[in-house]
Amino acid sequence: MRILNVVGARPNFMKIAPLARALSGAGIEQYLVHTGQHYDANMSKVFFDDLGLPKPDVYLGIGSGSHAQQTAKVMEAFEPVLLDWKPDLVVVVGDVNSTVACSLDAAKLGIAVAHVEAGLRSYDWSMPEEINRVVTDRLAALLLTPSADGDENLAKEGVAPERIHRVGNIMIDSLVQHLPRARQTDVAGRLGLKAQGYAVLTLHRPSNVDDPEVLFRIMGAVERISRRIPVVFSCHPRTAARLEETGAGTGGDIRRLDPLGYHEFLGLMADSRLVLTDSGGLQEETTYLGIPCVTIRENTERPITINEGTNSLAGTDAARIEELATSALEGETTGRIPDLWDGKTADRIVKVFRDWFNNRS
Ligand code: UD1
Ligand code: UDP
Repeated sequence: MRILNVVGARPNFMKIAPLARALSGAGIEQYLVHTGQHYDANMSKVFFDDLGLPKPDVYLGIGSGSHAQQTAKVMEAFEPVLLDWKPDLVVVVGDVNSTVACSLDAAKLGIAVAHVEAGLRSYDWSMPEEINRVVTDRLAALLLTPSADGDENLAKEGVAPERIHRVGNIMIDSLVQHLPRARQTDVAGRLGLKAQGYAVLTLHRPSNVDDPEVLFRIMGAVERISRRIPVVFSCHPRTAARLEETGAGTGGDIRRLDPLGYHEFLGLMADSRLVLTDSGGLQEETTYLGIPCVTIRENTERPITINEGTNSLAGTDAARIEELATSALEGETTGRIPDLWDGKTADRIVKVFRDWFNNRS
């Protein structure tokens, strides 16, 4: 069995790393393609170093662009790679443009696709990732879901049960493996902050940062929260550009940093008192770590982090963000770790792949 793993953007690296390791442990032939959707050293290379990912066998160097440009460029560059390497299975993760573009290429060449993190739905069609998720799941032969809600969403869309495999949350494999190393970093200490004495902020959704009015509203709320507890802001390049353009987010005690590597960020988050975010991955990581998370979005494709974990959904109303942050700071945090978020998801995926390959007609 020959497998081709695809990465493109920051949230892909920590999902492919444990799988690549498990495939290698099982002696399965595998190659790694990096589309280059994210390319700055602190959005890409640092994750190869921190996660011990092998150097990509192929780097497509796509870079930034509109959705159509980025998707089309990946499709054009990835097709010859497939023709060259002739994999049995292409593995894509998450919901970024590289995920859907590579799935389209493979499906059209009759090559099976496995989608890790399948079945998540925000039911918000204005979100580019929702389009990517639905299309990728439609194309994939193997749908590897993190939780029961994923299975249910797919069943509602008429997906045959034999394509759905609940394997758990692959991000948590990376978290479990790297937490001890992450705890040795000391970003907070370098900022003069103590464990539990600060909040962490990340913000990068176009709907939150590209409209100046929304950006000012959110950053205003964060500024007021930061007068109660300092806020360490790991700032995505998209957001950094918007903050420069608008001048938003300059008040309060907000310590703005360039994007951090995986170990430094995980270490920072693990010792924080509160996380404010619009990230998908952070909602899950905070649930595992038992840290309260206020999600600055109207909806989430990860409802289990609310129903079982430590997440709460604030929308983008400033008063609501402050209210939820205050109750998180003053109240008890309750939540539990969902089933199969146990650090063993990659091994379960390898088993699914082996069974699929052996039963192929
Ligand atoms: C992408 C994903 C999003 C994911 C996020 C994780 C899509 C549609 N969006 O959003 O789902 O949550 O990554 O971080 O795939 N930029 C740099 N350097 C980089 C990368 C980006 O400066 O290395 C800047 C560029 O100005 C670029 C902008 O960030 O135009 C946006 O990058 P892009 O990959 O298009 O989307 P993200 O907002 O990062
Ligand atoms: N992350 C990181 N450094 C940062 C911000 C995030 O290593 O400065 C990690 C985070 O721990 C998680 C992943 O990146 O594992 C989430 O990526 P992101 O928020 O960019 O994307 P999303 O999950 O929203 O698609």
